[in-house]
Amino acid sequence: MNKTLRTPVIAGNWKMNNTPDETAALIAALTPLVANAESTVVIAVPFVDIAAALQATLGSNIAVAAQNVHWETNGAFTGEVSAQMLKAIGVPYVVIGHSERRQYFGETDVTVQKRVRAALNAGLQVILCVGEVLGERKGGITAQIVRAQTEIALAGVTAEELKSVIIAYEPVWAIGTGETATPEQANEVCAILRDLLARLYGKDAADRAVIQYGGSMNDQNAAELLAQPDVDGGLIGGASLVAEKFAVIVNAAG
Ligand code: 13P
Repeated sequence: MNKTLRTPVIAGNWKMNNTPDETAALIAALTPLVANAESTVVIAVPFVDIAAALQATLGSNIAVAAQNVHWETNGAFTGEVSAQMLKAIGVPYVVIGHSERRQYFGETDVTVQKRVRAALNAGLQVILCVGEVLGERKGGITAQIVRAQTEIALAGVTAEELKSVIIAYEPVWAIGTGETATPEQANEVCAILRDLLARLYGKDAADRAVIQYGGSMNDQNAAELLAQPDVDGGLIGGASLVAEKFAVIVNAAG
């Protein structure tokens, strides 16, 4: 496995945090701290903060992501935002299938698949989240769960389109709990996902795919997680809300 084929992607998922003014301030604090990053830096912000984030990141190496997207282009879908709308304002990335959407908002593997399709059709880059809940890990079915989530989400995605997909392995039991997967656990599942990609798309495509770990990654544990051979970056929640902490994680990758 050749890690040098991949540029790590460190993405902050702000979740439902920060107003537009707070967005501008956090980005202003973060920008100089990550200016020399060897990794790709992304922040996923609430929809109402996207305009402020795009403005504040102009001329920086920080890219902006949305946290969700609907699968239709337009229409009577109150409260939803389409991939075309995100593309029109210049958003390059979108997070799809986050476990909080699956847990609290009825997201299913099938709706994740539809959102991935819509995002790729619109030319967005996707951060696709998968991960098992605690009971599934205890039941020994982690591999089965993450393989199924990934395979369904990627149904119909071509090898060419896969270049625009980042997979984020986020064990649900590690999100916001302070209980991080061990580096070995994180790497094991990222490697399982890479094997799946090799089966679906061939070894070369799999070797080039970026697979992140997420779940209580912070400034203390990031270096060890990111040093794992199959962990190509992180999707960071809580620690991405503090510029200094997020910067340490960004600069630990490379
Ligand atoms: P925490 O880093 O707060 O555990 O959140 C992880 C996450 O859900 C990122 O999408």
